Amino acid sequence: MTNMHIPRLHPDTIEEIKQRADIVDVVSEHVVLRKRGKDFVGLCPFHNEKSPSFTVSQGKQMYYCFGCQASGNAFKFLMDLGKQSFIEVVLDLARRYQVSVQTLEPEQRQELQRQMSLREQLYEVLAATANFYQHALRQTQAQKALQYLLSQRQLKEETIGQFGLGYAPAGWETLYRYLVENKHYPVQLVEKAGLIKPRKEGGGYYDVFRDRLMIPIRDIQGRVIAFGGRTLTEEQPKYLNSPETELFNKGKTLFAIDLAKAGIAQLDQAVVVEGYFDAIALHAAGINNAVASLGTALSLEQVRLVLRYTDSKQLVLNFDADKAGTNAAERAIGEIADLAYKGEVQLKILNIPDGKDADEYLHSHSTAEYQELLKNAPLWLDWQIQQVTQDRDLKQATDFQQVTQQIVKLLKNITNNDTRNYYVGRCAEILSLGDTNLISLRAENLLTQIAPTTAAYSQPVSTQRQWGSKKTSPSPIPNIERSLLEHAEALLLRIYLHCPEQRPAIIHELEERNLDFSLSHHRSLWRQIVELTNGQVNLISSLQDRYLELAEEIELISHLFHLNETGKKEILRTPQVVQAATACMERVLREKRYRYFLELWQETDPETEPEKWRSYYQAFYTEKIKLQELDRQRQFSITDLL
Ligand code: UTP
Ligand code: MN
Repeated sequence: MTNMHIPRLHPDTIEEIKQRADIVDVVSEHVVLRKRGKDFVGLCPFHNEKSPSFTVSQGKQMYYCFGCQASGNAFKFLMDLGKQSFIEVVLDLARRYQVSVQTLEPEQRQELQRQMSLREQLYEVLAATANFYQHALRQTQAQKALQYLLSQRQLKEETIGQFGLGYAPAGWETLYRYLVENKHYPVQLVEKAGLIKPRKEGGGYYDVFRDRLMIPIRDIQGRVIAFGGRTLTEEQPKYLNSPETELFNKGKTLFAIDLAKAGIAQLDQAVVVEGYFDAIALHAAGINNAVASLGTALSLEQVRLVLRYTDSKQLVLNFDADKAGTNAAERAIGEIADLAYKGEVQLKILNIPDGKDADEYLHSHSTAEYQELLKNAPLWLDWQIQQVTQDRDLKQATDFQQVTQQIVKLLKNITNNDTRNYYVGRCAEILSLGDTNLISLRAENLLTQIAPTTAAYSQPVSTQRQWGSKKTSPSPIPNIERSLLEHAEALLLRIYLHCPEQRPAIIHELEERNLDFSLSHHRSLWRQIVELTNGQVNLISSLQDRYLELAEEIELISHLFHLNETGKKEILRTPQVVQAATACMERVLREKRYRYFLELWQETDPETEPEKWRSYYQAFYTEKIKLQELDRQRQFSITDLL
């Protein structure tokens, strides 16, 4: 009776927590873990030891101690460690991972029990059906089906057996009679398994799959949960799949995951193909880390399912290279884009040459050749860049502009700084069309255009008092801000030097915003420029004369003096760059000023120095308002650029 007061949790809740609470995260909070091979090791919290024998497997979501034999999953770990009950641990994790908790009322419990046993029964019916189809494949009526597998698909008996391939006979109620009349399975159960349908007229039932080659779809534990049936004629659809049932959710299922999971863990990489026969052909060729997506866009759940088995989260999408396949890849990626931008999945795209699918390719190529394709498959970002640039003539102004826009969009999405910087460089190279002198200019341009959405300003940065200080080394400016400044300032100087008609606009912007150059080499160049401009001389050549004496500084700025025709055209094409660049500079300065006054204010005691306290408050608040204004402005001018 005491049990009555303990809530029973809904299995969905427990399942969801299991999905979210990764064992490595959970254990890491209590044990310092180090990566060793595929696993993590640390000092066992359950017994005293000096060298680590406590092992955590992310793939299996289990821990095991070679010293004291303690073992279990994330729940068990927390229960044993905190001497907590199951329910306490689950509720704790639910809070931590923000899983809403559903409990079971007594009626629900009964319903669930019924469902549980329904599921068990469905597994049984489907297993019996798979056997029936396999058996039928060996009958004379299935000769053409077997022949199709052996000759057209070039499959070995071993593969046919491994995948449990079968044949659904041609009659209208062959399976129905076998399951219901011979085996006495309840007709509703067989219907719920998605195998038969009630006739529209005259009562009775008919088989869903007739005269088709049958491919069992199995869950991760190898239990049959559905079927795909391929026609052997021209009948439509080419593939008929089981309807969604209690056991079968298309969006959560990957074909061949049961056979591939070990291979994925071993090779630390998963290959996802589109078709049943692509996966089958790959396994037959010994590439046993392949799964198929059942023809639909890959869902986040499907991706998570495979990623569990690869430590370095490597996923290769091998979708058809034809137009439909390209779209499929793009659609598929849609769902996992965020994971890729955050670096949570290393996504590669493989398009087989000549628009072949994996199955077709392997008919005329070796396993090694396919593996070579896998090895050379471009990372998703590179693939996207290829998509954006292919069939474009970057020498044409419109193509160039459109491609640049698309690239900027792409780069803006990359949240990882290193990755983004790397790709800015790569894209700059592409946009330079082999002219190495142009690369840094292109990079500056790209960086300026993607600047507003970078996280640069929201990151906490070391508070530096001397925001206005002339001392610049060691640099008081955090790295990313520094590189933004470097680019924005360089771009502005370059435009000033090479586009006389833009000079008034630049001076206007700088005065309007009350800005100076922050980086010392730029500041001193600017001073020289101001002095020389008054004399109306050939600016660049005079500057070069002056810099002859300053060997060290010239290294930092000499690249600004050179610009060929293409580079100049590019600068002229985007006059708004001046605005964006100055806004960028102002933003960096104001941010520093804001932090400076904020810190002063925080350190001032309002009791003893009320005046100061108030004025610091006003100062940082003013900066804050201006920052917000500037962000709006900047966003505006950047959207203008796109
Ligand atoms: P495809 O039609 O792209 O070709 O289907 P395929 O797999 O190369 O077909 P084969 O080689 O001619 O046999 C890709 C996948 O899309 C799903 C299936 O999972 C198929 O394997 N599909 C396709 C369907 O579910 N229904 C269809 O009618 C067609
Ligand atoms: Mn095919």
